[in-house]
Amino acid sequence: MRVIASSAETYAFVDRMRTDGKRIGLIPTMGALHEGHLSLVRLAKKNCDVAIATIFVNPTQFGPNEDFQKYPRTLEQDLDVLRNCGCDLVFTPTNDQMYPAGHSTYVEPPNVASHWEGKIRPGHFRGVTTIVLKLLQIIPAHVGYFGRKDYQQVAVIRGMVRDLNLPIVIEACETVREPDGLAMSSRNRYLSAEDRRRALGLSRALGSAQRLIENGCTSGSQIEQCMRDALLAAPVDSIDYAAIVHPETLEPVESILSPVVGMIAARVGTTRLIDNATFTLG
Ligand code: PAJ
Repeated sequence: MRVIASSAETYAFVDRMRTDGKRIGLIPTMGALHEGHLSLVRLAKKNCDVAIATIFVNPTQFGPNEDFQKYPRTLEQDLDVLRNCGCDLVFTPTNDQMYPAGHSTYVEPPNVASHWEGKIRPGHFRGVTTIVLKLLQIIPAHVGYFGRKDYQQVAVIRGMVRDLNLPIVIEACETVREPDGLAMSSRNRYLSAEDRRRALGLSRALGSAQRLIENGCTSGSQIEQCMRDALLAAPVDSIDYAAIVHPETLEPVESILSPVVGMIAARVGTTRLIDNATFTLG
């Protein structure tokens, strides 16, 4: 496995691979890798010739009061697990490389960024679209692998790919969970034992919503209330949103006639967690 910090060298490597007719899969990450990330690498390995992961904690997607400084950085461990997954190249740029002095160009995200996470974390998706486009310039991959765990992020990236005519296919991969249902996240390592137990409220709330829909409930607001009740029973400390939305527009759905997505963001202790699930009708 090659580990390259220089964007020019990475571009040259990818250019050679493309000239050789290889299909390139890209997995952008911020490191602190877990099985969720590795599932993306394995899928890229299975469906492409070359799997390229990136590790970069992107400052522009963090708000001023968010966890950029304390975000877990575990580079050596990350490289070990990527090597074991058969990853071919890891791009590990420095801050100066991605944001050189005078950097002032940003990608305005599509409208789907305006709800939910976008509302609560102003500027977050602008940071995400900017870094992902920059990574795609350095690594012009055929397929980009993203996790459904960050459901709105996938919608935002797909919107950018459509709007900017980017020649890439975006694959959205299933959320990998702990055996008890907690969605894997780099931020789970912030949780104390007690908070870890309460964090189960998110996946439980989604489970309750699925059961309600299977039993024939078609009222978006009733299902939202059911999710809130489950979250408060955990108890989580606060709820940013618990919503039933259209799978593409992410607009709230009041009367459920086709599959919808339940999206949750809540705080447990000082940790902010998100989760979601797609609900099929009963
Ligand atoms: P990060 O949080 O490190 O996640 C990298 C990728 O792994 C994302 O596509 C995310 O959705 C996916 N992922 C995280 N947890 C997952 C899980 N439990 N199951 C499946 N996939 C999971 O998302 C980012 O980084 C950044 O915003 C990034 C796209 C790299 C831009 O900086």
